[in-house]
Amino acid sequence: MADEVFFRMREIDKVYPLEGEDVHALKKVSLTLDEGEYLSVLGPSGSGKSTLMNIIGCLDTPTSGEYILQGREVENLDELELAELRNREIGFIFQNSQLLPRLTARKNVELPLIYAGVRPRERRERAEAMLERVGLSDRMDHMPNQLSGGQQQRVAIARAMVGNPSILLADEPTGALDQKTGAQIMELFQELNDEHRTVIMITHDLKIASRARRIVHIIDGELTDDPQWGKSHQAVPQPKQAGSAVQSRDD
Ligand SMILES: Nc1ncnc2c1ncn2[C@@H]1O[C@H](COP(=O)(O)OP(=O)(O)OP(=O)(O)O)[C@@H](O)[C@H]1O
Ligand SMILES: [Mg+2]
Repeated sequence: MADEVFFRMREIDKVYPLEGEDVHALKKVSLTLDEGEYLSVLGPSGSGKSTLMNIIGCLDTPTSGEYILQGREVENLDELELAELRNREIGFIFQNSQLLPRLTARKNVELPLIYAGVRPRERRERAEAMLERVGLSDRMDHMPNQLSGGQQQRVAIARAMVGNPSILLADEPTGALDQKTGAQIMELFQELNDEHRTVIMITHDLKIASRARRIVHIIDGELTDDPQWGKSHQAVPQPKQAGSAVQSRDD
């Protein structure tokens, strides 16, 4: 039943209608994810990554095909419902942290909770807990321009996580960082996944993609699983590493 499905795409097409010639940006894309997975979507420029990200993140809807997220059939939702689903289920992280420059780190992290109607005191506590989680307890009152690039990206990750979304959706999150800082950010994603957060990493960089347990390739709008990366295509939850609170079921 749809209401038990965590994440399933079936034969998703996205066509951008343009005068002259339509652009067929996604072609029959099918993808199933389990909660707690760490997936990379790897593909070259123009292959359809951002298009796919926009659909996964409920920023855009497919031309045809089925997409179910947390039991909701996305194609049946109106703009408002889509926005609600997006705010609840998706934490976005982009290449540039996109923090608001006039707000402190803490206020930036509080923002999604303001939109969600959370009261000030709880907002503050949750924002501080998240900033602690990403290793920034001593930087909460800094403005973005008083933070390093890696620290800004940590704030962005805290902001993405503070609403407790089901999926962290990252588009080249280390693209603007030097190698060492980028590696630290990738380490953080790994830790978050070890804590059973679902991570979708969108990148053109094989080295970045290789950190995930499972890689899918996107080329010219077509998605293929990489059999080399082990994980079967069936929806079988993988037992998590030590420390995970989630138990695998034997049935
Ligand atoms: N709004 C749009 N209108 C028309 N065509 C579009 C639109 N957005 C994307 N496209 C086309 O769809 C295809 C996929 O674009 P997309 O932005 O998804 O690629 P990408 O994999 O994210 O590339 P990059 O790595 O450069 O960001 C491209 O051919 C692009 O020109
Ligand atoms: Mg893109």
